[in-house]
Amino acid sequence: MAKNPIKIAPSILSADFSHLYSALDICEKGGAEYIHVDVMDNHFVPNLTIGPVVVKSIKPLTKIFLDVHLMVEHPEDLIKPFANAGADGITFHVEATEEPGLVIDLIRSTNKQIGISLKPQTPFSMIEPFLDQIDLILIMSVEPGFGGQEYIPSSTKKIKDIHQRLIEFGLRDRILIEIDGGIKLTNAEEIAKAGAEILVAGSEIFQSENPVKTIQKFKALGVT
Ligand code: DX5
Ligand code: ZN
Repeated sequence: MAKNPIKIAPSILSADFSHLYSALDICEKGGAEYIHVDVMDNHFVPNLTIGPVVVKSIKPLTKIFLDVHLMVEHPEDLIKPFANAGADGITFHVEATEEPGLVIDLIRSTNKQIGISLKPQTPFSMIEPFLDQIDLILIMSVEPGFGGQEYIPSSTKKIKDIHQRLIEFGLRDRILIEIDGGIKLTNAEEIAKAGAEILVAGSEIFQSENPVKTIQKFKALGVT
């Protein structure tokens, strides 16, 4: 049976911020399908990172899909700013708002890909009511906040369960599953086999000796 290639989303959080252009160039040369942009507000998570001005600056420098992951409270305030700055997809955390439906409506009004994310301890039931309105589920396999953490092993079962539930709901072809945190060349194949089609990887790529090659190695892995 042919292998489905893994789609890779390098997280520029682990790149050298004084050379962001070269991080984008690495993603282009490696053939990454997405560029993952981790937005942290020092409230939802204990770290502070990228705002819309940075997205606006990098947008003209790459054709790759900008996959913006909002780890912020009040995500509704940031949908339009990130959409206007050039995000192609916007993912927010279900735990970060009392009104996920409103945030979804806002993203839809910008015509961007709609993603919803779950922290490791958050059950699938939290997002179940919104499945018919979203394009992507981002499963966190570390506590959000920092790159370079260890993959939480129970995440693999969570991917399998969510993959299975989406099949039961007849939504598997419509909703993408993305996994984020602690993804390495050594665990990628198993994680993809569990049902994730987009793998976010930060430190494994940008802290490797040859980041372009590392992206290519991820892409050469596959699921039979
Ligand atoms: C964590 C971020 C991740 C992180 C991934 O809060 O959402 O995207 O940067 O980095 P690694 O691959 O190093 O775990
Ligand atoms: Zn992320």
